[in-house]
Amino acid sequence: MTKLNLLWASEMGTAMEVADNVASIAKEKSIDINQVELNDVSMDDLVNMKKVLVVTSTTGDGDLPMMGEEFWTELSEAEISLSNIEYSVCALGDSSHFDFCGAGKKVDEKFQELGAKKILDRHECDGDTEGHEDWAKNALEKLGFE
Ligand SMILES: Cc1cc2nc3c(=O)[nH]c(=O)nc-3n(C[C@H](O)[C@H](O)[C@H](O)COP(=O)(O)O)c2cc1C
Repeated sequence: MTKLNLLWASEMGTAMEVADNVASIAKEKSIDINQVELNDVSMDDLVNMKKVLVVTSTTGDGDLPMMGEEFWTELSEAEISLSNIEYSVCALGDSSHFDFCGAGKKVDEKFQELGAKKILDRHECDGDTEGHEDWAKNALEKLGFE
């Protein structure tokens, strides 16, 4: 069975909890998971991935959490094709900030620009984690895991 790549970054722990919860949902369905922090994903790793879910919060001014900064620097400059990838993004943020869910939005837009296929619209959490379970279940189905 094709592996699910669950890529995540969190500053204060909320997005980490969401990622862990998404992993639990996937494990209940006996899906083989590669759960990895964004900074531990190289561009070489990324081009070889097929099914990807990204969970990231936003910090600073629309920035990725520290554990995703290096990934973002590499991705934003990458000249690679992600046409093998089917993906969706769960973005955590707070609309009291100017660049709402900026980190998830940036990654989502860059994935599309590099040819990845979005199988489900980005889910945006506003100051909480509401809706992430439905997003995960839906995304897993759209990725062909059910
Ligand atoms: C210092 C700081 C900066 C933040 N900047 C943004 C931002 O630019 N845009 C946004 O939508 N949310 C922003 N947030 C809100 C967080 O993304 C949100 O609270 C999220 O749930 C935190 O997830 P985490 O615990 O995984 O880091 C910021 C929060 C903090 C503490």
